[in-house]
Amino acid sequence: MTHVLVTGGTGHLGRDLVARLVRDGHRVRVFARSPQNAIDVEWAIGDLATGEGLQPALKDVDTVINAATFSPIARRGGIRPVDFFKSPAAVDVAGTARLLALCGEANVRHFVHVSIVGLDEASLPYGRVKLAGEQLVRESSLPWSIVRAMPFYYLLEKMLAGLTWLPVWPVPTTVFNPVDTSDVADYLARCAFDGRRGMRAEIGGPEDLSLAEFSRQYQRARGINRPVLPLPLSATAARGMGFVVRNGVRGKLSWSAWLDQRFAAVEEAA
Ligand SMILES: NC(=O)c1ccc[n+]([C@@H]2O[C@H](COP(=O)([O-])OP(=O)(O)OC[C@H]3O[C@@H](n4cnc5c(N)ncnc54)[C@H](OP(=O)(O)O)[C@@H]3O)[C@@H](O)[C@H]2O)c1
Repeated sequence: MTHVLVTGGTGHLGRDLVARLVRDGHRVRVFARSPQNAIDVEWAIGDLATGEGLQPALKDVDTVINAATFSPIARRGGIRPVDFFKSPAAVDVAGTARLLALCGEANVRHFVHVSIVGLDEASLPYGRVKLAGEQLVRESSLPWSIVRAMPFYYLLEKMLAGLTWLPVWPVPTTVFNPVDTSDVADYLARCAFDGRRGMRAEIGGPEDLSLAEFSRQYQRARGINRPVLPLPLSATAARGMGFVVRNGVRGKLSWSAWLDQRFAAVEEAA
């Protein structure tokens, strides 16, 4: 039985990943700032930004999956002017450096790092922070894998929810293929134990659609009706914002199926 430490195991991707690893029979320890209700996992409480609790969390661990991040944009579900100037690096850069150093001391056999498609052309500071974290992993002497994913559906939903007050939705025409965290979690669980190392095939969702089309499907699922004003975006600007198509590994869950699940869950809770 492999002993796996998951950082960010309380996040959107992390929760799906932990559930998947438990289902596969792994012994899972979650490194988190505060524990959540979850069965069949050990909790290691600490903070990547300070290093607190990290060393004991690695005891007897074979594999680390680093799915922690601190993204102000993802947390609030929208971009503000400040995001064009700075993004905190304490978790994604300093925290990754600390984690890598301690993994070396703990003889961890595989360090799996979660990253984002298109970082080399990222225009926002968060992307540059993620790239710096990735660079530390590439330079590390540990056996590593880096898995880059397209934007997650939950984030797309949060961003679109922020437009509901607008009478007309101006959205870029650029085509991309966002993906669900459940598909990324399945892929990560395979990558962690398939014996391979290095830069792994990138993962995106099953459909290549314009943001305008994603918006229309979102509106239908929410029962709202706003004209969508397609905004042309230069190829460079589109790539800088992560609007690309990736053919590497394709998730299975479509945006419309995800929306059905999401809003069925909301109705059930109401
Ligand atoms: N969101 C996307 O669209 C997207 C796309 C591609 C790749 N990714 C990557 O996928 C990974 C997961 O993203 P996500 O969207 O699922 O993230 P998320 O939901 O924002 O979760 C982030 C996780 O990191 C933890 N964390 C934050 N600060 C921490 C700290 N100081 N110490 C310890 N843990 C801390 C959070 O714990 P708390 O609960 O304590 O805050 C949470 O568990 C990240 O590497 C991200 O860059 C995301």
